[in-house]
Amino acid sequence: MAVVSTDLDIRRVTGRIGAEIVGVDLRDALDDDTVIASIRAALVEHKALFFRGQELDDAGQQRFAARFGALTTAHPTVPSLAGSPNVLRVDSTEGRANNWHTDVTFVVSPPAASTLRAVVIPPAGGDTLIANSVTAYQDLPGDLRELADRIWAEHTNDYDYVIPPAETAQTKAYREIFVSRKYRTAHPVVRVHPETGERGLFIGGFAQRIVGLSVTESRDLLRLLQTYVTRPENTVRWRWTPGDLVFFDNRSTQHYGVDDYGDLPRLLHRITVAGDVPVGVDGRRSYAIEGDDASHYTPLAA
Ligand SMILES: [Fe+2]
Repeated sequence: MAVVSTDLDIRRVTGRIGAEIVGVDLRDALDDDTVIASIRAALVEHKALFFRGQELDDAGQQRFAARFGALTTAHPTVPSLAGSPNVLRVDSTEGRANNWHTDVTFVVSPPAASTLRAVVIPPAGGDTLIANSVTAYQDLPGDLRELADRIWAEHTNDYDYVIPPAETAQTKAYREIFVSRKYRTAHPVVRVHPETGERGLFIGGFAQRIVGLSVTESRDLLRLLQTYVTRPENTVRWRWTPGDLVFFDNRSTQHYGVDDYGDLPRLLHRITVAGDVPVGVDGRRSYAIEGDDASHYTPLAA
């Protein structure tokens, strides 16, 4: 009997975050529990995984994502791709995510993980940066870490997160849809990862205020903490090629879509795995301040 090795060929992309998985056809992996378990372990360890040269379509991407848990619908406010309720179009003509963020943290149970699939990629530019929020936390000086452990932040979708290169009727309409239903949620600034127990900064673009501080004080403190997330040492930069699938742990990362490709088209399809309610260092769980019903979006809504 032939011995089939199921060890994945995992190649780190940087010293602190990201790994490319080589030699796996995700269409085959869908049916292989051992490979899926290895990918899950690699995701938690490396925070972001990259698969080149895949031939997934929307249905294949959906089946892949569903191997890691229940799926969310496309978005709490933005409509899905027509006929595919779990697929969010990340379309450069509607907006640019050139703002560091963690996906959908304005709801109480943000996604656990996100898959992004290249559909249309500019010949150069449009890279995605992903940051490790656990090493960012570990980089904090002790006193700042102790402060971060204790504070909470309000996350909301109700601000201009997607910044269009120039306002058009299409980008304006997209932003109106984005805030058509308002969410405000309090999350711990330091989240304990439910699988590893690692502590990580859980802030990003939707975090607009520190609970108990003024807007001005909040901005300064969030900016200071955020500088640790976006230090080059804590980031990986992925240059897309057609067929790529990127899979990141949304509980321990932030990401940023680099807006350097002018009017060239760029389209990704995103499908996210539902996540649980974040827990802080003291064991307290996130809670809704406004717009608490996200049950149409995530099956794990509180
Ligand atoms: Fe995103």
